Amino acid sequence: MADLDDIRDGQEYGVGVAQKTDGFFLKGSNNLDWGMKDRLSRIFNPATGRTVMLAFDHGFIMGPTSGVERIDLSIMPLIEHADCLMCARGVLRALVPPTSRKPVCLRSDAGTSILTELNHNVVIDIQDAVKLNASAIAVMVSVGDAATEAETVANLYQAVDAGQAYGIPVMGVTAVGKDMARDARYFGLASRLCAENGANIVKTYYTEGFEKVVACCPVPIVIAGGKKLPELEALELAYRAIQSGAAGVDMGRNVFQSEKPAAMIQAVGAVVHQGLKPAEAFQMYNDLK
Ligand code: 5RP
Repeated sequence: MADLDDIRDGQEYGVGVAQKTDGFFLKGSNNLDWGMKDRLSRIFNPATGRTVMLAFDHGFIMGPTSGVERIDLSIMPLIEHADCLMCARGVLRALVPPTSRKPVCLRSDAGTSILTELNHNVVIDIQDAVKLNASAIAVMVSVGDAATEAETVANLYQAVDAGQAYGIPVMGVTAVGKDMARDARYFGLASRLCAENGANIVKTYYTEGFEKVVACCPVPIVIAGGKKLPELEALELAYRAIQSGAAGVDMGRNVFQSEKPAAMIQAVGAVVHQGLKPAEAFQMYNDLK
């Protein structure tokens, strides 16, 4: 029962003090709803505007490839160093402790594997993403692939509709196929297409001229690491991407296939969040266990 006999008149109205109205720190995200912004703020660190996402969704098309044979042994020790985890729902439920308190970008399309033809995919039910408390859902888009372009763009569109309904951001993941170009023109087109269709984050690949890819994409871009490189080269890749305007990385193999995965993810984090130069970050990598 409310105490009706002790209702005190308010005194502190702050008359004359304007209410602070902040813009949102992420590119292209100011007009989103509160839940979207809350989730994006879990993925991207509001202090730097950047993120280190740890991708370990590779098994959903490749099976137990090097570094993800035993996710409990190889990946779980790394998650404390990641800002966000990117994985498929089976691995999330089976292996990722819900007590880790890490936001999850849920791999949300599934279909074909490397044994057949990639990207004939469907999107999982958004209600499962809600149940899993996903901070974002990720969907592959194979722009330029005649066999799967239309269905993957439709997947993105459907994911955006569902994400909008529940306040869950969508990450459009640009595919690279054997017949697709890997230049700024292609990644610029593919990234822009994802953003135009409603993706809130775009994941793509670094390339020469990347500053143009970033400039003409109205939402934040994170880069995939791609195939394993020597550690210094992977740190150079991350550095160049950040210098070109990327809002972070979503790296897998260059972390978990490294000689020292924990040291590598921390060195990548220092490039992303502290702007360490590649040589400094490599020194850090060498110094860490
Ligand atoms: C492709 C993905 C992978 O998660 C992506 O390739 C990131 O991993 P890597 O850094 O190993 O390239 O989204 O579907």
